Amino acid sequence: MTRPLLELKGVTRSFLAGEKDFIALKDINLTINAGEIVAIIGASGSGKSTLMNVLGCLDHASSGSYKVDGRETSAMDDHELAALRRDHFGFIFQRYHLLPHLSALHNVEMPAIYAGVGESQRHSRASDLLGRLGLDGHLQNRPSQLSGGQQQRVSIARALMNGGEVILADEPTGALDTTSGKEVMKILLELNAAGHTVIIVTHDEKVAANAKRIIEIQDGEILSDRVNLERPVDDPSAQGERPAKVKQASRLVAGLGLFSEAFNMAWVALISHRMRTLLTMLGIIIGITSVVSIVAIGEGAKRYVLKDIQAIGSNTIEIFRAPTGATVARPPSKPWCYPTSRPSASSTTSTAPRPMSAATCCCASRTSM
Ligand SMILES: Nc1ncnc2c1ncn2[C@@H]1O[C@H](COP(=O)(O)OP(=O)(O)OP(=O)(O)O)[C@@H](O)[C@H]1O
Ligand SMILES: [Mg+2]
Repeated sequence: MTRPLLELKGVTRSFLAGEKDFIALKDINLTINAGEIVAIIGASGSGKSTLMNVLGCLDHASSGSYKVDGRETSAMDDHELAALRRDHFGFIFQRYHLLPHLSALHNVEMPAIYAGVGESQRHSRASDLLGRLGLDGHLQNRPSQLSGGQQQRVSIARALMNGGEVILADEPTGALDTTSGKEVMKILLELNAAGHTVIIVTHDEKVAANAKRIIEIQDGEILSDRVNLERPVDDPSAQGERPAKVKQASRLVAGLGLFSEAFNMAWVALISHRMRTLLTMLGIIIGITSVVSIVAIGEGAKRYVLKDIQAIGSNTIEIFRAPTGATVARPPSKPWCYPTSRPSASSTTSTAPRPMSAATCCCASRTSM
């Protein structure tokens, strides 16, 4: 039975280009049923990737309605959209987008980590998927140790990890040679036969010829939407089957798993970029050492000055009032204390020490040190 899975009504997507809005998608009305295999074709810049991004909830429509399995997405927040992507979509990109420092197995496991699937289940499903895609002997290879076709198969396995009810493939064969491209297309056809909805964005007519429905886009508008008569019609009973989903762990187990995986990944990232890690650590060490040294030097200098002052013999300065015109004899223990306005020599009549006023003394106040 036909089940509408993705429904766009009056969808537009515009981007701010300078001071004007550029409309990349104009009033798109489109329904894709569960189990279909659809090719979206069009010239470069016609809006294929923009449409795919909206379909996969990687981007949002500027206006209009988009429903996934009956759920309206326009009012969803980022978390809800992320959950929708995780549960329904698997992505395949022209340039694979694999994490370079992780093994093929770990790359494939990645979506399941975010879905909170337990470690042993993740391992066995990822190795099983890679095995089915002919990568048995390459589970521990990093992307740089795999050919383009092998990397694309890893990315297909990753797209299937959480079930991949809808596989969105943007130019999946674009970076591959003819043989690898055919292999990848064969896998996508098999997945479609197994019940996955497959949407392929391509500018290659030969790739599009594999699909049963071809949608052509021009300048952000649907130019044509036709059934590919060269493809045999399926048994309708096979359509709309939901592919098997992975069983998710409880929230607590998922949270703990996510934390330990984040730690593991951070560690792997540090190990795999040794020089960068070393330089970063060196920078941090130099920074901390500089701060500690400056604080220590400041503290040492302060203590040194205080010690010097205390060595003079007293930590108290006493201030006395001096009568106007009197000469003040400085006590030897307080050589720094001068009257601020000295009387003239002619007016000096006495040499006896007299108290000074705060106003006439350089110390200006009674100070304790
Ligand atoms: N973020 C953006 N900001 C501004 N304009 C954008 C943005 N994304 C896409 N566009 C514009 O939207 C139009 C459609 O882009 P899109 O990437 O969908 O084209 P495409 O059909 O996938 O092309 P190609 O086959 O070359 O990949 C282009 O003119 C592009 O410049
Ligand atoms: Mg594109």
